Amino acid sequence: MNKLTHTAYIWSMALIVILVTFYLAYTGYSYYSTPLEERFYHPRHDWFKPSGLFGQGLGVIGTFLIFFGVSIYILHKRYNILGKWVRLKYLLEFHIFLCSLGPVLILFHTAFKFGGIVSIAFWSMVAVVASGVLGRFIYLQIPRTIEGRALSLEEVKNSQLDIESVLTEKYELSPNTIAVFNNFTGTDTTAKPSYKDLRKALSTEQISRKEQKSILHMLRKERSLSRKIGRLEKMKKLFRYWHVAHMPFALIMLVIVVVHVVVAFTFGYRWIF
Ligand code: HEM
Ligand code: HEM
Repeated sequence: MNKLTHTAYIWSMALIVILVTFYLAYTGYSYYSTPLEERFYHPRHDWFKPSGLFGQGLGVIGTFLIFFGVSIYILHKRYNILGKWVRLKYLLEFHIFLCSLGPVLILFHTAFKFGGIVSIAFWSMVAVVASGVLGRFIYLQIPRTIEGRALSLEEVKNSQLDIESVLTEKYELSPNTIAVFNNFTGTDTTAKPSYKDLRKALSTEQISRKEQKSILHMLRKERSLSRKIGRLEKMKKLFRYWHVAHMPFALIMLVIVVVHVVVAFTFGYRWIF
């Protein structure tokens, strides 16, 4: 997947989540905005209520999307079930897509009525989604292979460019300019040159605008990488703690939802069956 297709992939998934949310809010607005005690008299109560054809349908589809989004990610991460066909990082994005869309459907399935023991499952789901957003942020702080697997400190250090020799050999820059650039990409935060300083140093060199742009881009990437290296051990530890929060909420949700579905079926809510 090149950069353009990847951006299109991300945006189309985000767009689907947004459009579905708007559609569900729009189509059921008159029902969801009716006070709970008056809903029984709403003309479309049998359609939108959590046990109704539409309401329960959203519950079933939402549960399926979450279940599928979690299983496929875990199975591929642990057992590589999709082989080389899919990169883990794209699959994580797919996990995030399905596990955002699913909760939106579940929200409309509840018809904004959070009662009984199943409300614990609902709030666990909210906690998993919220912790997911935080986890995604930490995940991005850990340098990875192109596949999406975390790199060790040694591997990350090896992947760093030898900026000094690239700048000397490829662009033939002066030692003064290189010294400014080294200060920019280094981890020492005292006396850090600004972008203005970088541009000023570059303007004294005999290189084209295009080359200036690619040097600035390379420097920015290197600086972000050396910052990540500085925080790597801390972030890896934080990510381990994070798993301890994301997983149990997902498990609580799973257990209660199983009970919820069994109860729903025993009470005769058979939906279309
Ligand atoms: C196969 C999936 C599901 C089915 C068949 C299902 C079925 C039902 C049914 C029949 C009701 C109505 C119960 C009643 O009126 O007494 C209901 C309500 C509800 N469901 Fe589900 N559900 C599913 C998934 C979920 C999930 C995954 C969650 C949350 C994580 C959830 C949360 C709720 C909530 C909060 C209510 C409203 C409870 C209340 O009346 O106050 N459901 N569900
Ligand atoms: C109901 C919704 C969700 C459930 C049930 C769920 C569940 C899970 C589970 C079981 C894992 C596997 C943990 C492991 O490999 O040890 C996982 C991983 C992950 N999820 Fe979710 N998730 C949900 C939503 C989200 C959302 C909305 C996001 C981001 C916005 C997210 C981000 C992540 C991340 C970053 C990982 C870690 C990947 C890794 O370490 O390889 N999740 N999720």
